[in-house]
Amino acid sequence: MVANACSRADDTCGPGGPVIIPRVPEPELREQDVDPDPLRQFDAWFREAGAAVAAPEAMALATATAEGRPSLRMVLMKGYDERGFVFYTNYESRKGLELAANPHVALLFYWEALGRQVRIEGDATRTTAAESAAYVRTRPRASQLSALASPQSRTVESRDALEQSVAEIAGRHEGSELPLPEAWGGFRLVPQSYEFWQQRQDRFHDRLLYTPGVDGTWTLARLAP
Ligand SMILES: Cc1cc2nc3c(=O)[nH]c(=O)nc-3n(C[C@H](O)[C@H](O)[C@H](O)COP(=O)(O)O)c2cc1C
Repeated sequence: MVANACSRADDTCGPGGPVIIPRVPEPELREQDVDPDPLRQFDAWFREAGAAVAAPEAMALATATAEGRPSLRMVLMKGYDERGFVFYTNYESRKGLELAANPHVALLFYWEALGRQVRIEGDATRTTAAESAAYVRTRPRASQLSALASPQSRTVESRDALEQSVAEIAGRHEGSELPLPEAWGGFRLVPQSYEFWQQRQDRFHDRLLYTPGVDGTWTLARLAP
């Protein structure tokens, strides 16, 4: 049996007794410190995340059917500016079909090393064909081939069948530019709300919610953790 060598209930106990944890200033999210524009606030946090986590652009994307049945998966955020947040996918995938029927979307970034999450909700529309094409052409040839060969979210016979399809398309276009994958393209989410969440001690976290105010401004509110 291990005797409890800790004398006070709020000590952090190790097997040999109280553990001394160095005190570092606790990160906090205060109304007076955040930018009035949530896009600029996102930009500040995204840059900090870039220095702290491996893939800050990885985000969970929630879509729903016309009847409101939700589904969720990870995608990569490929750009953000005052027009919205962009990701690329297959328009005929499950998410693509759900978005065609119901434009309402939720995004979630979680940066564990910083104890932060950002929730963004809004409606998504397709990027222009020119924008999607320009993005596809930035991708390595192997990725373009896989986008051409993969009917994302559909049932396929086998991995072999998919690999044969890639080889067949590669052979047909050897030495020349690949055709654009017709079903591939971008969506741009126009945010209608942002929530910034900062982990704090004792589950007393900070949550600041931005919603549209008047004349293009944003209203800031604190939510209970
Ligand atoms: C970290 C990560 C990033 C991903 N990025 C994308 C992406 O940018 N676009 C995409 O279509 N799928 C991406 N995927 C795959 C999706 O999670 C998902 O499997 C695929 O899009 C099919 O989803 P759906 O059937 O719900 O449409 C990513 C997966 C992970 C784990």
